Amino acid sequence: MYDGKSSALWHLVLIAFCTRHASADDYVSMGSNTNAAEAMQFLREYDREASGMCYRVTTAQWKFVTNITEQNRRRMNEELALSSKFERLSWRKAAAFDITRLSDPQARRQLRKIVQASRASLSDDKFNELQKLITEMKEIYNSAKICPFGQKPYDPHVPKVGSPATAPPEPFPLTHPHYQLNNHPYQHYQPYQDNPEFPNYCDMQLDPEISRILAHSRIESELLYVWKSFRDQTGPKLRDKFIRYVELANEAAVLAGFRNAGEQMRAAYEEPSLRESVEEVYNQVAPLYKQLLTYVRRRLLQRYGNHTLRPDGPLPAHLLGNMWAQNWKSIMDLVMPFPTSPALDVTSELLRQGYTPLRMFQLGEEFFTKMGMKPLPPEFWRSSVLTRPRRPAQCSASAWDFCNRIDYRIKQCTEVTTQDLVSTHHELAHIQYYLQYADQPQLFRDGANPAFHEALANAATLSVYNMPHLYRLGLYNNKSHDSYEVGMNFLMTMALEKVAYLPFAFMVDQWRWSVFEEGVENMNERWWQMKLRYQGVVPPLKRTEEDFDPGAKYHIISDQEYLKFFLATVLEFQVFEQLCVAAGHAEHLHLCDLHRSREAGRLLGELMQAGASKPAGELLRTLTRGRTDKISPEALVK
Ligand SMILES: *[C@@H]1O[C@H](CO)[C@@H](O)[C@H](O)[C@H]1NC(C)=O
Ligand SMILES: *[C@@H]1O[C@H](CO)[C@@H](O)[C@H](O)[C@H]1NC(C)=O
Ligand SMILES: *[C@@H]1O[C@H](CO)[C@@H](O)[C@H](O)[C@H]1NC(C)=O
Ligand SMILES: [Zn+2]
Repeated sequence: MYDGKSSALWHLVLIAFCTRHASADDYVSMGSNTNAAEAMQFLREYDREASGMCYRVTTAQWKFVTNITEQNRRRMNEELALSSKFERLSWRKAAAFDITRLSDPQARRQLRKIVQASRASLSDDKFNELQKLITEMKEIYNSAKICPFGQKPYDPHVPKVGSPATAPPEPFPLTHPHYQLNNHPYQHYQPYQDNPEFPNYCDMQLDPEISRILAHSRIESELLYVWKSFRDQTGPKLRDKFIRYVELANEAAVLAGFRNAGEQMRAAYEEPSLRESVEEVYNQVAPLYKQLLTYVRRRLLQRYGNHTLRPDGPLPAHLLGNMWAQNWKSIMDLVMPFPTSPALDVTSELLRQGYTPLRMFQLGEEFFTKMGMKPLPPEFWRSSVLTRPRRPAQCSASAWDFCNRIDYRIKQCTEVTTQDLVSTHHELAHIQYYLQYADQPQLFRDGANPAFHEALANAATLSVYNMPHLYRLGLYNNKSHDSYEVGMNFLMTMALEKVAYLPFAFMVDQWRWSVFEEGVENMNERWWQMKLRYQGVVPPLKRTEEDFDPGAKYHIISDQEYLKFFLATVLEFQVFEQLCVAAGHAEHLHLCDLHRSREAGRLLGELMQAGASKPAGELLRTLTRGRTDKISPEALVK
C-alpha cells in the first residue's frame, strides 16, 4: 500500500508489539534482573504468546475490513483491547531485566524492541486516555464531510437525492472554459452535478469525492473551496485533543527514558545521528525538487494566470492535484513534456488481452518465482480478497501476515488497470517479504527499520512499471511512438509522484518533532513556515492558530510516524539500482528490468530474510557490497 489512510494496516499488529531503541549505548535500562536463563525463558514464552495474540487480532481485523458489520467491529475491538493488555503485561516483564547486562545480542535486541516504543510506562488511566484520544481523533477525521461546491450547507429537512421533492441544484455553467478541453485523456472531470458518483448533499468525504475534485477539477475557486472546507471540518475539531495527546505522549516518553516523544519515535531507526543524516538527504534532493517546482510553476501560471500565483513565488497549496500537495501526478495533464506522445499506460492492452484480477496476481507471482524467489502458499489463493466484495468492505490495498507462518493474504479491490497491475506487484512484494522472514522470531518479523517494507516493495515495482518490462510482457508496443518522448513523459510521471513527495514526507515529522520538543504554541504557524521552507508551498488563504492544518493529515492525528515514507522513497531507488547492478544492467536506470534475474532475486531475498534481526546499516552494507551503510538519494536523483 501507499501512504493511504489505512496504509499501515498490514503492520498495525506489529506496531502494537514491536518496540525499538536508538542504540545499545543510550538505552536507559530500568530493571535489575540479570539472569540470562530467565530472560531467554521469557522471550520464548513471549514469542509463542505474541504470535498467537497477533494471529487473533489480525484475524479479527481481516474479518472487519473485508466485511464491515457492527458485530465484526465489536469483535475486533475486543481483540485489540486484549492485545493492548498483553502489551502492557509484556512490557512490565521485559522492563524487569537489566537489558544492558545480557550477553546474547539477539536477546538484548528483542527485549529492547518490547520495551522501547511502548507507552506502557504510563499509569493505567493515562494509558487508556491516550488510546481513547487517538481513537476519537481518527473517528472525527473519518467522519469529516463537506457540501459540494456552490451548495447550501446540509439541511436535514431537505429530502435526499432521488426523492421527487428535491429541487435540482444550480448547475455550474458548462460553458466554463475549463470544460472545453475534453480531448485530453486526463480531462475526464465532470462537474459534480452531472456526475452520478457524486452525492448531491453534504456528505462528500475525502475519499473518494474530495480527492477526485482536487485531482481532476481545474476550476480554481472549486479547488480553493474543497481545500478550505476539508480543513474546516478537521483541524479545529481535533486541535484540543491533539494538544492533550502531545502532553501524554511526551509523558510516556520521559518515563521510558527519552527526552520527548519525538526522540522515542526516532529510536526505531537505531541511528543516533538520524536528524542530521535525513537533513543531509533532503539537501541532496532539494536542487532537483526546485527544478521540478520551477517547471511546474510555469505550467500552472499558463493555466491559472498570475493573479493566482506569482511567476517567481511559492506554489499555492490547492493547485497541485492533492489535498496536501504531496503527490502531483494528477496534474500530469498540465505539465506533460510531450502531450502528443502517450503516457506509459497499458490499461487498454490489459483489457484487450482479457486480463482478469486473478491473472494479474498470477503474473505478479511469476515475477518473483522467475527471480528464484518464493511461490505463494495455497492459503493465499484460498483466502485473499482480490476483487471488490459485494458486502461493505474497505477497499484500499494491503498485504497481511497472520503471524502463524501459514496464512498470508492480500486485500485489494483489483481492477484491470495499469495502476492496479503495479499495485498488485507492490502488495505481492510485501507478501514475499513476509515469506522470506517467516523463520525469524515474531519480534524480528518486520522491516529492518520502519522504511524497509515500503522501500523493498517499491523497488520491486520500479522494475515492473517501466518500458522494457511491459514490452517484454507483451503489454507495451513501442513501434508507433517516439521512445524518447514516451520515456520523458514516464520520467515526469515519476518526478510528480516521487520527487514532489520528498519535501512533504520530510517536513511532516520535522514539524511533529518540533511540537514534541518545543510545545504546541504557534504550531499552525510553524507548520506553514516549514511547508514554505521545505516544500515551497503556501496556503491559498490566511491561516491562524484557530486553524489546525496539520490535523488535515491522517498520519498526524492517528499517531503514525511519517519519516519512514521519506526514507522509503529514497531507499527504494537505492535498492533498485543495486538490484540492477546485480542483474548486470548497464543502461539508464529507468530502463532497467529485473525480469528473470536470479542474481537480483538472491540479493532481494537476502535483504528480506534478515527481517528486523539486524540494524538497517548492516543491510545497507550487504546491499552495496560493503561500500556504505548510509541511505543515499544518488540513485533517485540519477
Ligand atoms: C460477515 O460478517 C457477519 C457477522 O457480522 C457474518 O454473519 C457473515 O457471514 C459475514 N459474511 C461473509 C461473506 O463472510
Ligand atoms: C500578469 O500578466 C499580464 C498579462 O500576461 C501582464 O501584463 C502583467 O504584467 C502580469 N503581472 C505580473 C505581476 O507579472
Ligand atoms: C522497443 O523496446 C525494446 C525493449 O526495450 C527495444 O529492444 C527496441 O529496440 C525498442 N524499439 C523501438 C522502435 O524503440
Ligand atoms: Zn506497501
